Amino acid sequence: MAEKSLSFPNGFLWGAATSSYQIEGGIENDWSKWEKSASRIRDLKRRGLHPTDFQSGKAANSWEMMEEDIECLKKINATAYRFSIEWARVEPQEGKFDEAVLKKYTHFVKRLQEEGIEPFVTLWHWPVPLWLHKKGGWAKPMIVDYFKKYSERIVRTMPDVTFWITLNEPNIFVGDSFLTGKWPPQKKNLFAYYRVLCHMVCAHRKVYDMIKNINSQTQIGIASPNIYFEAAGGFINRLLKAGADWWWNHWFLDRIKDKQDFIGLNFYFHNLINYGFTKNKNERVSDFGWELYPKGMYYVLKDLEKRYHKPIYITENGLADEKDTQRAWYIMEILKNIHRALSEGIDVRGYMHWSLIDNFEWAEGFTKKFGLFEVDRKTFERRPRSSVKVFAEIAKHNAL
Ligand code: GCO
Repeated sequence: MAEKSLSFPNGFLWGAATSSYQIEGGIENDWSKWEKSASRIRDLKRRGLHPTDFQSGKAANSWEMMEEDIECLKKINATAYRFSIEWARVEPQEGKFDEAVLKKYTHFVKRLQEEGIEPFVTLWHWPVPLWLHKKGGWAKPMIVDYFKKYSERIVRTMPDVTFWITLNEPNIFVGDSFLTGKWPPQKKNLFAYYRVLCHMVCAHRKVYDMIKNINSQTQIGIASPNIYFEAAGGFINRLLKAGADWWWNHWFLDRIKDKQDFIGLNFYFHNLINYGFTKNKNERVSDFGWELYPKGMYYVLKDLEKRYHKPIYITENGLADEKDTQRAWYIMEILKNIHRALSEGIDVRGYMHWSLIDNFEWAEGFTKKFGLFEVDRKTFERRPRSSVKVFAEIAKHNAL
């Protein structure tokens, strides 16, 4: 079979990604507060939806089921796992760090390492603790120092971690929380939007230096949600593409380019630009209605290589596919495109699928199923979808 000949470089990492609020359960932060607010509940009911389907609650119960999640990782032959630390758990009150929580996360890191799974630890994947939310959260410049103190505590507690991801997808979060007003704190303010982005640039830069001071061997980056913008043709569309690339794909990364050891790429989207409109063919779409366009991965990788010349890890890529009819196909096609980039000398070093298990998809609640493993909403039992086999084979042979 031709595909079998597509092998990946020695040491290429295979795994999956999750985030704390989406899987752990039992967390109180600005998101959980918003989910239970009268206005959110009213809005969901008006749309004929059940509010509890949109409250993270026990999520996938991973806080109690860390060993079960490790079992899932073993079943896919993972050599890497990206997960996040929940700020609200670690520092439930300003300056008061919960030792038992830190111990539990440290133990988890150790267990991963014992199983030969490289931890990629994300320090912030969107929510903030309530005390910080009350002070204005990311909208206030003081968050930079709070984030640094919190991060320092974690890094000192887990000196064995090599890969740190400071921030997850700054531009998605800031856009939906401060510009479109979709997510908490539901602001629609262009100035706040820009200010928050600047605070995040500053936060990353400071935390980068802090981590390097503690351990110069660490590898640090962010997870960036780059999009393949394609011009439908003509000068205007090419200009629009250049603008979109500049703002969405490069603005943040340019500002931290001297303070990152690798690029973490979260790849989901293609956007065929036609005079300000999207003209995607949408030949295949996920349960979310997002176009599945694996070729986009190749072009995004090429662009990142050309601009930054840094090792790249795919820190997220996946699809909502409850019936699992497209996941295996999509993974294969995505990997062919990564392989194509590798064969042109682009330094891609790992692939982490979003997601390991079904989880809480933010404002979409539990309605979107991204997991390689299905999670029973009552018993929390993890059941492999059929694409687990496909992924496990690829990871085992380090080849397609
Ligand atoms: C993101 C986040 C994840 C999402 C995933 C699917 O990229 O938006 O990192 O938390 O759940 O991307 O939308």
